[in-house]
Amino acid sequence: MPEGRERLCVALDASERERVLALARLVAPAAGFVKVGLEAFCAHGPDLVREVASLAPVFLDLKLHDIPNTVGAAAAAAARTGAAILNVHAGGGSAMMRAAGERAREAAEAAALPRPKVIAVTVLTSLDAPALAEVGLAGTPAEAALRLALLAKEAGLDGVVCSPGEVAAIRAACGEGFLLVVPGIRPAGSEAGDQKRIATPGAAAKAGADLLVVGRPVTAAADPAAAARAIAREIEAG
Ligand code: C5P
Repeated sequence: MPEGRERLCVALDASERERVLALARLVAPAAGFVKVGLEAFCAHGPDLVREVASLAPVFLDLKLHDIPNTVGAAAAAAARTGAAILNVHAGGGSAMMRAAGERAREAAEAAALPRPKVIAVTVLTSLDAPALAEVGLAGTPAEAALRLALLAKEAGLDGVVCSPGEVAAIRAACGEGFLLVVPGIRPAGSEAGDQKRIATPGAAAKAGADLLVVGRPVTAAADPAAAARAIAREIEAG
């Protein structure tokens, strides 16, 4: 396993450009990746992603979900920003996932960029069983996540985003080398916020998560760099 720092991805969830860049500079020495999400992307677009990518490897978290042709083209454009990791929603189906993986790889190659990892979101960690039933998805969140992870693997993707409690079952079903990216991380004593399925950094690391995505516990801390270093140590110890 890589060291704690390399397994930490800090979510730069902010809409002001200067705040995103300042956070990226602060946490870059303490984290393997930083995540640019919809909030910053909708506000500032691919130029900000390129700028952040010059500071630290970027996970571009756009959770694409549309028909295969549209998602394939969007994944190609996302790959051209130099992002190291991109994602789509597994619920978009295997043809959509396949198109995303293929088009992102082709675009990176044509631009002489390293091949990005393309992963799929299984079930959002903010959804619990009643919320899943509400949208008509069968089974528990864990069952749905496992089903979607297997579909993502069959579609040739590099890994999935899943909740801490699903890591062990997905690892067993999908094997080593399938990237498991895990949000919903809360150091002991911190606020859960809107996350419903959570774990401490140590527990998620111990369960076998490859990359732990942490937002508010770092970005809302008085000293984000120190908070990131403390979480990296917890991952290492896990
Ligand atoms: O602040 P917090 O640690 O909850 O941030 C978690 C980050 O991970 C957010 O940027 C959120 O969009 C993202 N995420 C998630 N659940 C998923 C996929 C991504 O919470 N299934």
